[in-house]
Amino acid sequence: MADNDNDRLLDHSYDGIQEYDNPLPTWWKLIFYATIIVVPIYMWDPMGIGVGPGKAQAYQQELAAFNAAHPKAAAVYTDDQIAAFAKDPAKVEAGKAVWTAYCVACHRPDGGGQIGPNLTDDFWIHGGKPTEIMKTVVDGVLAKGMPNWGKVLKQDQVEGAVAYVQTLHGTNPANPKEPQGTKYPADSAAAPAAAAPAAVAEPAKKGN
Ligand code: HEC
Repeated sequence: MADNDNDRLLDHSYDGIQEYDNPLPTWWKLIFYATIIVVPIYMWDPMGIGVGPGKAQAYQQELAAFNAAHPKAAAVYTDDQIAAFAKDPAKVEAGKAVWTAYCVACHRPDGGGQIGPNLTDDFWIHGGKPTEIMKTVVDGVLAKGMPNWGKVLKQDQVEGAVAYVQTLHGTNPANPKEPQGTKYPADSAAAPAAAAPAAVAEPAKKGN
């Protein structure tokens, strides 16, 4: 035993203190190596076990970031909310800028229609309810040449554009494109909460 110990005494000596070669036990080293292997998995964080926010929370954060950057699907708004956008001067003003920049090429500055349909009349291919208008703008109708603006515009821009489109309703521009689609109650865009039967009976006009 003594010889053995001498063998394991290393050669160098500092101020009379010698170093003893005392390797760590194998079980200890195995645990150590295991932790090294675990590190990349831990950092990648497959199950939210690491220092990161965890899968569920990370998903929520990504979703929030995505929602901030992209317009919400029309479904999250009610008709009343979207109709209210058209009554908000700041939104309509912002929407006019969006309209001028992105929409006039196909719908004409006055909304009378050209490549795209007339947006001032009572007839809608994809529905004239505020939520339906919003959906058409966000999702587009790619097959028919209406871009999906949800991919291009920010949420407030979409809200503005839809607000502005609603103000176009009933403006009767010169040389409009012929009506397309089905009629939606005349005053619906401005006041969708109004009772539908009464609205249908009313002539196609709107004061806004
Ligand atoms: C490249 C041409 C083009 C541009 C630019 C464009 N649209 Fe359209 N839009 C269309 C076409 C074409 C349709 C009709 C789609 C169909 O026939 O199904 C349409 C339909 C619509 C409709 C539905 C009309 C209905 O009758 O249901 C709305 C609302 C609308 N556009 C709003 C907008 C807004 C707001 C913008 C700008 C942000 C815009 N469009 C820009 C071509 C365009």
